[in-house]
Amino acid sequence: MENLLPKARQAEFHLLKLAKKQQLTKNTFALEFEIPELLKGNYKFQAGQYVTVKYLSKGEVFQNDFSMTSAPFEGKIALGIKINNEESSTKDLYDGFEVGDEVEVSEPKGRFTLISKPHEFRTIIGFAGGIGITPLISHFKNILHTEPRTRLFLFYGNRKTEEIAFKNELDALAKKYSERLQIFYFFSQEPTTDNLFHGRLDERKLKLIINQILHLDDTDEESTIWDAVDEVLICGKGDMIKSLANACYNNGIRKKNIHFELFEEYNEDIYPQEKDFPLVEDIEVDFKLFSKNYSTQLNDNRIKLLQQLLIQGFPVPYSCKSGICGSCECILEEGEVELLENEYLTEKEEKSGKILACMSVVLSKKIKVNFDLI
Ligand code: FES
Repeated sequence: MENLLPKARQAEFHLLKLAKKQQLTKNTFALEFEIPELLKGNYKFQAGQYVTVKYLSKGEVFQNDFSMTSAPFEGKIALGIKINNEESSTKDLYDGFEVGDEVEVSEPKGRFTLISKPHEFRTIIGFAGGIGITPLISHFKNILHTEPRTRLFLFYGNRKTEEIAFKNELDALAKKYSERLQIFYFFSQEPTTDNLFHGRLDERKLKLIINQILHLDDTDEESTIWDAVDEVLICGKGDMIKSLANACYNNGIRKKNIHFELFEEYNEDIYPQEKDFPLVEDIEVDFKLFSKNYSTQLNDNRIKLLQQLLIQGFPVPYSCKSGICGSCECILEEGEVELLENEYLTEKEEKSGKILACMSVVLSKKIKVNFDLI
């Protein structure tokens, strides 16, 4: 899928040979790259990460981020990509390269990752919308392979059956690991025999899922499957993520256990702000990003720093927007902010002036921050 996240910190690119190209559905396709022996170390990755692919479309150089569908143990870089419409640059990516051609691919990056716990009995659930399935396939394959006791539930929403990307691969996984993996498909534009599976994945649907699917737990008669959920993985469009992340949180899952990857530009906060602050207006912001210095003005401090810079069109890196992943980490060199939530920085880092822009409310008339930490 064309992942429209702002470009993260500068990436190293290498030419990789295209080993496989396959159409998946009418508007999705898969690419697979060969990693030469010499570059094996550069392309080590964790499940849930992505690469940037550089290619030409209508005379313009595009750099788009695509999540990997491969798991680390498979030793390959495999991607799932969507062609949004005839004009989409990804159509030229599909048409412009054949097996054997060399393509510029960045080294893997991204924070939509989980710490592996091979010795634990975990319950992990995933929600995916459309091509948002890609990093979840990587996670699920990885967990099934490396955590023999962990059970997984996948809730995957599409408009219609024929639009399900990777259906064969998912069904094969569900068959191979039938004791530990259950997959449920939801359709928004196709009738279903059970109404539970009709409609979008959102807060209302989550309630039904909890009551009708994640209820009785065979492994523990005194609680429900939902009570046992350790981690939640969500990938898709912003509104779906916002709705499901809040619904999971309101149903007892801690924010640090709700992981998500946004597959589009999204300027809204995922979680509502729960605290009031004295109003500060006409704020001057100087910041350094990718070796460039910028100056801008914020009308007031009602919206957090990252959001304000994104709304103004600055390519500030982000992923979770909720103080968990560290993508928006920066140093406060001047001024004052309140860091509302922080699951990423250590106490020592906070003391040294590091902040997370996504969780920072500006409290002074002028601030100066530096995103170039390396
Ligand atoms: S975007 Fe994840 S911590 Fe700010």
